[in-house]
Amino acid sequence: MLVTLGARRASVDLVDQLLECHHRIRRFLALAGELASRPALDDTEVQVTAEQVRRYFAEALPLHVEDEDETITATLASASPVVVAALAQMTREHVEMEPAIDRLIGVCAELVREPQRRATLALGLAALSAELETRFATHLALEEGIIFPALRALPDQQREHIRVAMQRRRVG
Ligand SMILES: [Fe+2]
Ligand SMILES: [Fe+2]
Repeated sequence: MLVTLGARRASVDLVDQLLECHHRIRRFLALAGELASRPALDDTEVQVTAEQVRRYFAEALPLHVEDEDETITATLASASPVVVAALAQMTREHVEMEPAIDRLIGVCAELVREPQRRATLALGLAALSAELETRFATHLALEEGIIFPALRALPDQQREHIRVAMQRRRVG
């Protein structure tokens, strides 16, 4: 069940980079679902998988949310009303999803500490990952359908500005 994400390419288009983030969100949500439902996992596999899911949602996802709520929102502030409304909805959904994401992080942390509790926690984890998969399906579709095309239409210089800000966020 180990996830290998592969080496990052040296220079990737901004939107392609964001789509890679979305691919990881979907992948780790699916992994959370598997953690709840796969019948034969030993304690070490549970711990390793739970830690991967926990770390993704606790450490990597917040950076993607910051990219969107801060850098992307600021850059597209004077875009069309449709895009501006989509940005507001995006930020609202980030806030609305936080409690479920925090619960997912909490359950995964419990499984890292006590993997033998998987049977007890499985039902709650399955419900949580299903809820988040539903919420993210709408959320990612909004971004990919309205916001990302607006980013593709920006001048190169502005796209590069966003990319640099995203890079700084990850090394700083
Ligand atoms: Fe988002
Ligand atoms: Fe996103």
